[in-house]
Amino acid sequence: MKNFKEKIIIALDYGDLKPVKELLEKLKGGAYFYKIGFELFTSCGAKSVDLVKDYGCKVFLDLKYHDIPNTVYKAVKSAGKLGADIINVHASGGLDMMKAAKTAGEEASDAAGRHIDVIAVTVLTSLSDIDVKQVFYNNNMEEKGQGEADGIASGLALHLAKLAKISGLDGVVCSGHESLKIKNIFGQDFKTVTPGIRMKAKAKNADVHALSHGETEGLKEPNGGQKRIMTPSEAFKAGADYIVVGREITGAENPADALANVYADVEKS
Ligand code: C5P
Repeated sequence: MKNFKEKIIIALDYGDLKPVKELLEKLKGGAYFYKIGFELFTSCGAKSVDLVKDYGCKVFLDLKYHDIPNTVYKAVKSAGKLGADIINVHASGGLDMMKAAKTAGEEASDAAGRHIDVIAVTVLTSLSDIDVKQVFYNNNMEEKGQGEADGIASGLALHLAKLAKISGLDGVVCSGHESLKIKNIFGQDFKTVTPGIRMKAKAKNADVHALSHGETEGLKEPNGGQKRIMTPSEAFKAGADYIVVGREITGAENPADALANVYADVEKS
């Protein structure tokens, strides 16, 4: 796979700049893209984006905007001005909100002289079918595990991806298991960004199945709470344009070795 190293986004899930700087130093020259989410941005704000940019790397600003169209429009413009290369919004904010985000992304791209991707989050991967039924389908707070709701989460994810496509957004965040389907339906140009990456994904599939059916008893948060996982090479083979890797690298004793392992996994495939 060509230029795949620039398609690996490392999640900076930290609460201050010190460990971020340490990681950037350790991975200097080897990593190209980082994700800044709620924790880091809430703690350190624009300084965190500036720091990553100082190392010549790109930024996925993972702030999942969800508000009225005018507010989201302004937020996306501001994120573009800050230097973000990928910005995301919640698809459940609706067509008008996503269209406003797209317009803001285009204007920010023109001003910055580079393309800024605006993508949508469909259904959070932490939500099971029963959770989705409770939240979106007036399920009257039915006890978890008592309702029949198989496939509702993935059905809703596909529907929201369709709305994101209609809005003109660049793509969606989705699990590796949905990526292929989304590409087939909405076209190869519609980008997919895939979190939930683990080096030994296959070995855990029994746990993943149990978790995705809400059977958490006896499981000690396998895979750090991620329910639908894939290895880096599996995710790229499933059509991911970008993969997001967090704790496999940031939690490793030697992050540079861990990143090299990710590269090796993709190279040998
Ligand atoms: O450590 P891990 O590889 O599980 O980190 C994944 C990162 O991707 C985290 O920053 C998490 O917030 C983010 N993410 C996710 N699932 C989504 C969207 C984002 O895990 N559906």
